[in-house]
Amino acid sequence: MEKRILVAGASGSVGFEVLKGLQSHSCEIVTFSRDPKRAKKLQDMAKEVRLGDVRKPKSLEGLCDNIDVVFSCLGASVELNLRQRASFYSVDYEGNRNLLREALRAGCSRFVYVSATLGESYNHTAYIQAHEQFVTELKASGLSYTIIRPTGIFSALEAFVDMARRGVAPLIGDGKAQSNPVHPADVAQVCVDNMWEGAEEVNVGGPEMLTRREMAGLAFQALGKKPRLIPVPAFLFRLGSVLLRPFHPRLSQMLQFVEAVSTHDALAPQIGTRTLSDYYASQLGLPSATQEEERRHG
Ligand SMILES: NC(=O)c1ccc[n+]([C@@H]2O[C@H](COP(=O)([O-])OP(=O)(O)OC[C@H]3O[C@@H](n4cnc5c(N)ncnc54)[C@H](OP(=O)(O)O)[C@@H]3O)[C@@H](O)[C@H]2O)c1
Repeated sequence: MEKRILVAGASGSVGFEVLKGLQSHSCEIVTFSRDPKRAKKLQDMAKEVRLGDVRKPKSLEGLCDNIDVVFSCLGASVELNLRQRASFYSVDYEGNRNLLREALRAGCSRFVYVSATLGESYNHTAYIQAHEQFVTELKASGLSYTIIRPTGIFSALEAFVDMARRGVAPLIGDGKAQSNPVHPADVAQVCVDNMWEGAEEVNVGGPEMLTRREMAGLAFQALGKKPRLIPVPAFLFRLGSVLLRPFHPRLSQMLQFVEAVSTHDALAPQIGTRTLSDYYASQLGLPSATQEEERRHG
């Protein structure tokens, strides 16, 4: 009988790449996500497209029946969006915990979870703590598991393209903190490689070490513009996070996380192969540097 795979968060940047990666495998795929519009693109790629809110256990009833492997690429978005109010705790921890309970009830044999790279300087953030609380439960669950830990995913840097279009982007702190962000497809490849078995934890970074200044600068370069970066003191983000806490907890937690990753290094083994400049080019519908090179050499 064909194996049945669940991809939770399949409409997101990593989840969608996992779904694409699974197309060449002989298995039956079920997806789970929340927004019907964003789930439309999943229709032709899965046997069943289930919609629901992971924070509500009723939404998950029966979801894992006859499922062998669960991929969870499901988490609260890091996009700065005032309408998103659910806390990281309620989605990344409680939501994934609900999913794990459903997987255990249904007798699934494996759980592959996309968390985040750890770093001493940002482990205090609500974002990381929510992920790690779930990791602790997954480890104690008795299920076979792999935890994938990416650095920043390119999709989270897309905002720089919009800012570059408008001609100016903020630079939080001195812009010297380094990271090797990674393409969602490279993270997804690691997920799929670990589908049946694998190490308990895998750290995944992209091929290039870049400073935050360089990450912003590359977006301007993709548009053929000279970077115009306005320095914003990091303490303003810390202050904003404290002031917003009672009114908009999610935004407060976002500011806390953005400040932490903007001012501290986030590094992981260079597993990915795709570059950030090529990703920015693809977002703009432009040929990548590699395609340009091929074109020049006929
Ligand atoms: N972005 C980064 O830089 C980064 C870095 C390291 C680790 N991570 C982690 O990697 C994982 C995947 O990240 P990503 O960038 O691919 O995320 P993403 O693009 O924001 O996608 C998140 C997915 O989760 C779903 N989702 C969110 N809230 C939900 C809810 N309440 N009920 C049901 N589904 C819900 C979304 O569904 P809808 O489309 O329907 O909203 C979407 O499919 C997350 O755990 C994230 O925290 C991200």
